[in-house]
Amino acid sequence: MLVLGIETSCDETAAAIVRDDGMVLSDVIHSQVETHAPFGGVVPELASRDHLQNARPVILAALERANVTLADVDGIAVTCRPGLVGALLVGVELAEGLGWAADKPVVGVDHLVGHLVAGYLVRADGPPVDPPKPPFVALVASGGHTALYRVDAPSADAIREIGATRDDAAGEAFDKVAKVLGLGYPGGPLIDRLAAEGDPNRIAVSPPMPRRDSLEFSFSGIKTNVARYVEKHGAPGNDQTLRDLCAAFQKRVVDVLTSKTILAARQERVSTVVLGGGVAANRELRARIIAECTRREIRAVVPPLASCTDNAAMIAYAGIARLRRGDDDRGRLAPCPTTLLPRVTRKGRGRRESDGARDES
Ligand code: KG4
Ligand code: ZN
Repeated sequence: MLVLGIETSCDETAAAIVRDDGMVLSDVIHSQVETHAPFGGVVPELASRDHLQNARPVILAALERANVTLADVDGIAVTCRPGLVGALLVGVELAEGLGWAADKPVVGVDHLVGHLVAGYLVRADGPPVDPPKPPFVALVASGGHTALYRVDAPSADAIREIGATRDDAAGEAFDKVAKVLGLGYPGGPLIDRLAAEGDPNRIAVSPPMPRRDSLEFSFSGIKTNVARYVEKHGAPGNDQTLRDLCAAFQKRVVDVLTSKTILAARQERVSTVVLGGGVAANRELRARIIAECTRREIRAVVPPLASCTDNAAMIAYAGIARLRRGDDDRGRLAPCPTTLLPRVTRKGRGRRESDGARDES
């Protein structure tokens, strides 16, 4: 089975052709980073307009690079949630149009399920893939989401959130801290590079939501912490203080992401953890997860960078199970800003009743 994947949920216009064994035949991405960089974040209206301009050439390039035509694919999978509604609408309407014109089934895919199945993708230029065996625990840490999931099968109905952020996503914290430090957008890769040359212990930055028995995260406090440092001491120039501050921030975030992922694996009694989402491209997080899991004889599946950040190959793969079942959403597809996956973590600040008690799960 060959599937065309289309992804337009945020600031990447992407299309890919993927075979049902996970082999990626093409993976084309047009990034809108330059459009949004002057604003320090994604501007929804600009994102939609950019998708409109680029979706057609990106899809054509995906077909051409895989050396197939629309007639050769068995179905189309398109991100329909969560994301910016105007941006999602572009991909959804294009997929519907292509589906009707070529008489191919179309299925809507939850973007988070895409991130969760990225470990199944096989890339010709990548390392050999030993796909994760469910059940496993997955950490998805991106610009819009940060949550831990129990995955019993790579399909939406077999995935359960077991903890998430109460406020900012981890990637959002990287982006906001980079903005405070005047580094530019997106902040993750910039902080990643600077932190590698810094001392994480010279500047005190308080850890984000350190409670060890909870699977919930909170990243808004650490961002405020860095902002206060800048208010008090002034923004560091391109010097060692900047590197040390980036290293201190990144270490605290990596510490909490790593320890809670391992706690989740223990609580769920699984022996595999999988990383996904843009923040999973962070070099310190990748190294720490591998090291800490190896020490505990837990298998860590850390997909290649191209599978972690937003792409349409993961969307195509996430659609395969439903296409195989004969599902077809044509005529019923609608974009939605929220995920389909049931949530257990309440958003918002403040103490929870459970904060004083021990975790019983
Ligand atoms: O998954 P993704 O590409 O898009 C969303 O679904 O949000 O994630 C983008 C996020 C951004 O916040 C970006 O700063 C972060 O991932 N990111 C990183 C790194 N590369 C991208 N964060 C930390 N370290 C990185 N190397
Ligand atoms: Zn994403």
